[in-house]
Amino acid sequence: MQKTRWQSERDADDSRRYVERFAELEASGADLHGEARFVDVLLPRGARVLDAGCGTGRVGAELLRRGHRVTAVDLDPVLLAEARRCPGLDVRAADLAELDLEEHFDAVVAAGNVMVFVAPGTEDDVVRRVRRHLDAGGRFVAGFTTDARYGVREFDRDLTANGFELVHRFAGWAMEPWHDDAEWVVTVARAM
Ligand SMILES: C[S@@+](CC[C@H](N)C(=O)[O-])C[C@H]1O[C@@H](n2cnc3c(N)ncnc32)[C@H](O)[C@@H]1O
Repeated sequence: MQKTRWQSERDADDSRRYVERFAELEASGADLHGEARFVDVLLPRGARVLDAGCGTGRVGAELLRRGHRVTAVDLDPVLLAEARRCPGLDVRAADLAELDLEEHFDAVVAAGNVMVFVAPGTEDDVVRRVRRHLDAGGRFVAGFTTDARYGVREFDRDLTANGFELVHRFAGWAMEPWHDDAEWVVTVARAM
């Protein structure tokens, strides 16, 4: 297994700080659920959702609270431990580039820069593995910064190569209109 960018560019202390930062944001009353609201709108009630690169389980836990059945996957041991504190969340340690859960989902969500933190060169593998875990018509929802090494053009290439079609594109999780200079991109792709 190749090291993800998240693993090679950060250490356990960074992950602990990441957990603390989100706990502080939550305590301050910050809105941490924009991604979950966005995904929830796309889904039938009680949908099967994969939170791919779940981190602390922030997005998956909120989707669970909204009545969906959520499996959450990550590789970071500090963040996995935090995600396992979410009651009812099915949390697994797995590499998205080699994902083989033998389950299908109605949607896969990769929120918070997951696609730009996977191991270099494995982005296409991740998209292929995501497709294998979706039924036809299932949605792949991904949000990431546009100033990273892996961009919108590369993502579109990998989506097309792996049997997805683009359904929606926004400049943020609040459905800000997409434009070429946007700093953030949220993509909804449909499995064909
Ligand atoms: C910035 S965090 C986002 C966490 C979460 N999705 C959120 O929005 O709060 C990126 C996450 O992607 C995970 N990740 C990156 N590459 C991965 C891979 N190949 N397999 C599983 N998780 C991966 C990292 O471990 C990290 O937890």
